[in-house]
Amino acid sequence: MPNSSTSAEIAHAAAILRAGGLVAFPTETVYGLGADASNPAAVAKIFAAKGRPQDHPLIVHVAGLELLPLWAREIPAAAHLLAAAFWPGPLTLVLKRAAGVPDCVTGGQDTVGLRIPAHPVALELLKAFAGAAGAGRYSGVAAPSANRFGRISPTSAGHVRAELGDAVDAVLDGGDCDVGIESTIIDLSRGRAVLLRPGQITPAQIAAVLGTEVDSPDSGAPRAPGALESHYAPRTPLQLVPAAELAARLTALRGRKIAVLARAEAPSGLKDVYWQAAPRAVAEYAHELYASLRRLDDLGCELILVEAPPAVPDWQGVNDRLRRASSN
Ligand code: TXA
Ligand code: MG
Repeated sequence: MPNSSTSAEIAHAAAILRAGGLVAFPTETVYGLGADASNPAAVAKIFAAKGRPQDHPLIVHVAGLELLPLWAREIPAAAHLLAAAFWPGPLTLVLKRAAGVPDCVTGGQDTVGLRIPAHPVALELLKAFAGAAGAGRYSGVAAPSANRFGRISPTSAGHVRAELGDAVDAVLDGGDCDVGIESTIIDLSRGRAVLLRPGQITPAQIAAVLGTEVDSPDSGAPRAPGALESHYAPRTPLQLVPAAELAARLTALRGRKIAVLARAEAPSGLKDVYWQAAPRAVAEYAHELYASLRRLDDLGCELILVEAPPAVPDWQGVNDRLRRASSN
């Protein structure tokens, strides 16, 4: 793996976490901004660094399944099935929280989001943090995506340094994130599986493991604030355009400074348009998406036009992020 942090750097980062500091670290989805989940003063620093509202719950990252009972008071059979199928991996499970989980982690709700990430640097950090004793106090790292509130999640250590720089005590480098969009979030706290945020792992894959359908959120579902509002947004206004309408839109906007993200090469003869060709396959598209949006955002264009990807289930996670990026 290129640019990977050394074991000494990871051990130092674990010591920073134990001392109540902030460490940004790579996961397979996006970079996280981590703090000791059992230390409210440390967790408060996450909210301050991000400018994030206090009632937004955080995902607790753990090194192994044996640590789950410290955070969740009920671990239903469905959680064991999904953990066996997808962990370590880009899946977050929302379970009933255990006694003693700080309110600042759960946003005051009776549930907690939990995930075992698949990135080797993240796993080594979580293990070093938990220490030889394993299931002691230092068992979970609360980590949202390591971006300012509402902005695009970082998929490289450079993105984190550019956006949060001085606000973190250490940034571990694990290269570019493989998946590129945030984890799928499934609520299992109310006796059935509910999709709170789409990601690379699809509802069909979850349903195949559980043998039951995955529901959409109803009014009683746990709040997943970051997944509800305008989010993942560049500063430049972004519009989603059906593929068939892209050429006409560009003609209408002729002479203006426009950026385009499309799953095709640029047509010849375009002027004043910065064209970014995106991969056709969903995994590669997601892997590059946030870096592409950051690049286009930095050009100082009037508008970013994104050719709408196919409206099919495999693209649900990507389409969800693009829709939010276009909503302000
Ligand atoms: O891939 C990911 O999940 C990344 C990496 C770093 O693990 N993390 C991430 O964290 O995306 P964040 O904070 O940016 O998004 C977490 C989402 C938010 O929408 C939050 O509302 C939801 O998870 N969430 C966390 N705990 C929850 C809970 N107890 N109930 C409902 N939603 C929860
Ligand atoms: Mg986020």
